Order: sequence, then structure tokens, then C-alpha cells
Amino acid sequence: MLGERRGVSGISSPLLPFIKIGTRLVVKVGLLGLGTVGTGTVQLLLDSTGRHPLLQELEIYVVGVRSLSKSRDVKLPDGVLTTDLEAIVSDPAVDIVVEVLGGLEPARSLILKAIKYGKHVVTANKAVIARHGDEIFTAAKSSGVYVLLEAAVCGGIPVIQPLKQSLSVNRIHTVTGIVNGTTNYILTRMQTEGSTFSDALAAAQQLGYAEADPSADVDGLDAADKIAILASLAFGGRIKLQDVYCEGIRGVSGADIAYAEKLGFVIKLLAIAKRDTPLEPLSVRVHPTLVPQAHPLASVSGVYNAILVEGEPLGEVMFFGPGAGAGATASAVVSDILNIVAALKTEQVTSQELSQSKIASPHPLLTCSHQDYCAIAPIYELVTRFYARFLTQDRPGVIGKLGICFGNHGVSLESVVQTGVQGDLAEIVVVTHDVREGDFHSSLAEIRALDAIDSIPSLLRVLNQER
Ligand SMILES: NC(=O)c1ccc[n+]([C@@H]2O[C@H](COP(=O)([O-])OP(=O)(O)OC[C@H]3O[C@@H](n4cnc5c(N)ncnc54)[C@H](OP(=O)(O)O)[C@@H]3O)[C@@H](O)[C@H]2O)c1
Repeated sequence: MLGERRGVSGISSPLLPFIKIGTRLVVKVGLLGLGTVGTGTVQLLLDSTGRHPLLQELEIYVVGVRSLSKSRDVKLPDGVLTTDLEAIVSDPAVDIVVEVLGGLEPARSLILKAIKYGKHVVTANKAVIARHGDEIFTAAKSSGVYVLLEAAVCGGIPVIQPLKQSLSVNRIHTVTGIVNGTTNYILTRMQTEGSTFSDALAAAQQLGYAEADPSADVDGLDAADKIAILASLAFGGRIKLQDVYCEGIRGVSGADIAYAEKLGFVIKLLAIAKRDTPLEPLSVRVHPTLVPQAHPLASVSGVYNAILVEGEPLGEVMFFGPGAGAGATASAVVSDILNIVAALKTEQVTSQELSQSKIASPHPLLTCSHQDYCAIAPIYELVTRFYARFLTQDRPGVIGKLGICFGNHGVSLESVVQTGVQGDLAEIVVVTHDVREGDFHSSLAEIRALDAIDSIPSLLRVLNQER
């Protein structure tokens, strides 16, 4: 247990008693992490004027970090910072634990321990939720506490609560998102400035948009975590992360971006979850995609994120905004904290009950109720259009041979263009009509065996235009 400490709130004295004053409830927040998001969260909580009045019922009671000697952008009273994170999650005085550490461990264990001790949890950690959401939500259900995660997907963009609440009466067909700002910045730069992938990545690293090890972003893993979470909410079932097909953007070349533009497309890393009818298995995938220039996601540039949700009867709705950054992400974190405070107030929780925290009847639109896993279709069952670029011997009859191989597997072609010559080789770009992915790959296996084929440098999926 932590000793006597001075918390800080956005309004009056830094020392607030743990009591209910009239209709005011003082809710004590234990923050795990004071990096980009933690600092933004503290700044927002300390500056409540002109924001929702419930903010004034919150106290930053304790903040856990790795280093006490590091200089911080926020000033906290003595005794609020600690390196003992285990003590925070078991402290009876803490009501809500906010996990903004990042990484899998100790974040996962601390979240589970907080739940065990009856704390409500707010987290921004998509990696932990995508991998360990099942055990976390099972534990939360049995402890009667809330675990909210608005900040975990697309930072400041409200999409988790809308999926749980405002959109929940819709039968969702498709969630299509640009959910990773780093890759969107790289692809935008390659498109607008003609940069190579390596130069655009180096620029993103210099600007702080990409990590020194960029694999989680450029290999699509971060987007896979996020679409697993969104799909779970949109389609009402748990998703096994290993079932999410994932392909990153390392293979996208300047040549593909230029050809895509000539054909009327832009290349985006899309995260897609789709199911036409509730009885079908779900398709959940991340891959670079040719997006028609007129599609609303085509104009989402730079580090911005957007999520297009299509459902019945609503039709289409698009969420757009900053997917990262201290202030934007703190907005999501603090809105989750406020949702919990509002639920506690609605339950007429007293100060004594607050310390025991268990909610008698959790708000059904805040909790995560599904226990079953969604059936996921294997990628070879996907029906999509394809863009493929071939390098071939520059001689007559090659296009005809390609057509025969495609025809042998029922692949119908929308366009075939010989785009130029590279040295001795001809370059041919093909766009197909809708085809089953497995059939398309069977035709490619036959094509690879042709003498005339040198290589197939690019294969990309094409988003359908019908809107
Ligand atoms: N940054 C964004 O824009 C953004 C957007 C959406 C979601 N998120 C998510 O938010 C979470 C936090 O991201 P961030 O960018 O704020 O990270 P960050 O800047 O690296 O901050 C991490 C904080 O956690 C503390 N910490 C980490 N491991 C610790 C440990 N083992 N023990 C004690 N303290 C530890 C660090 O302490 P020290 O300060 O002492 O080193 C630091 O204060 C991540 O899950 C991330 O995916 C971030």
C-alpha cells in the first residue's frame, strides 16, 4: 500500500479527501506511465476549465514511472510520482488505473492485477488488448469492473465508443480503416514527392512519426492489432490475432504508386474487416491496397487516420482525425475516465463502495460482453480485384500467354497494359475483375512457369468501386 500522498486535481487544493461531497464524487486516478500520452492526460486533467464539469471530480492520486530523475513536462506535487507500479494497482485508495506504459509486460500483468483488486481500467495499449483481451475482459467481468480502451485505436478519434453505442443497432458489413499514421505518412510522401520507401521512412523517423525499429508500423502489425479490436466490437465476437492476415508496405515501390495513379488509384495501407451476412465467416486483413481516387479514404493523407464503417440501416459513416499525439490521445483516455465516473455516479456509488469498486449492474453499453470467437475466413477465400506487375521477355505473344493462364483458373481481366521496357524486359500491368484469391494464386503459379516471365515484382489488392 502507498503511504500518505498528495494528489492533484484540476480545480482546488491539491489535497482532496476521498469522499463524496454532496453529489460530487472524488475519484482517485492511478496513472501508469508519464510519457507522451501520460503527460497529455495529466495536462488535460489539470486544466478542467471550460471542459466537462465531471473532470472536477477527478484527482491524480499517484503516477508510476520508470525513472524518478527524468525531467517532466508537468509538475506534480511531491510524493505523487513513484516507481512502485505494483503498489499503485493494489492501493485501496485508487479507483481507476490508467495504463499508458506501452509494451506487453508489465502492462498486461498490471492491468490484470488492477482488475483483481477491483479497479476500473483505462488503457491505450492496443498490443495488450489485441493479444490478451480475452483474459482481461473475462477477469473484468468476474470482478465487475470496466476496462475501456478508446485511445488504443486511432488515438484521438472516437470510434470504440461509437461502435459500442451509437452504431450498435446496425448490422455492420464492413470496417475499412487507415489506422496507422506512420505508414500513411510514408505512402503519402512517396506519392506526392516521388520518394523511395527508404527515403520516406527516414523522413518519418526524423520527424518522430516512426520508431528506430519501424517494423510494427511498416509490416502492418500495429494495424493488425487495431483491426482485430475494431472487428471484435463491430461484429460482436473475439478475434484471434493470428487469424488476421497481415502484409505491410515494404514491397510498395514508386513504380506501383505511379501506375496506380495513372489507373485512377492511390495506394493505402488498409485494415479491413468484412462480412456480407451474419452467417458468413469474417474476413479480417491488413494489406496495401489500390483505393479508387474518388473513395473517401483516398484523400486521407499524412499522419491522419480514418475509419469508414458501413452498416444497415445507417449506410456509411466515416471517422477522421489525428490517430496519435499527446493531446489527441489524452482526449480519448480522459473521455474513458469520464465515462466510468458517469457510470459510478449513475449507480449512486458512495465513497465506501467506490473503494470496493465492484459495480452491481455494469452499464451494458460500456462493457465488453462477447465471449465467443468469430469464425475467420482464410485469405485464399477472399474475393477481390488484383493489380499485378510483371517483367517479361520483350517478345510477341506474351500477353496472350498471360491471358491463357488467367483464363485457365477463371480469372477475368479488367485491363492489361504494357507500360514500358526496362532494359531487355517488358513491363506489363494487369488489373483483374473480382476473383477468388486462391484461384488468382493458382494462375500465378502457372504464369511463373512460363519461359517468358522474368519476375512478378508487385501484387496488390484493389478496393472495389461500387459505392
Ligand atoms: N504516443 C501516442 O501518440 C499514442 C497514441 C495512441 C496510443 N498510444 C499508446 O499509449 C501507450 C503509451 O504510449 P506513449 O507514447 O505515451 O509511450 P512513452 O512516451 O514511451 O511513455 C511510456 C511511459 O511509461 C513508463 N514506463 C514504461 N515501462 C515502464 C516500466 N516497466 N515501469 C515503469 N514505468 C514504465 C515510462 O517511464 P519513464 O518516463 O520513467 O521512462 C514512460 O513514462 C502505448 O500503449 C501506445 O501504444 C500512444
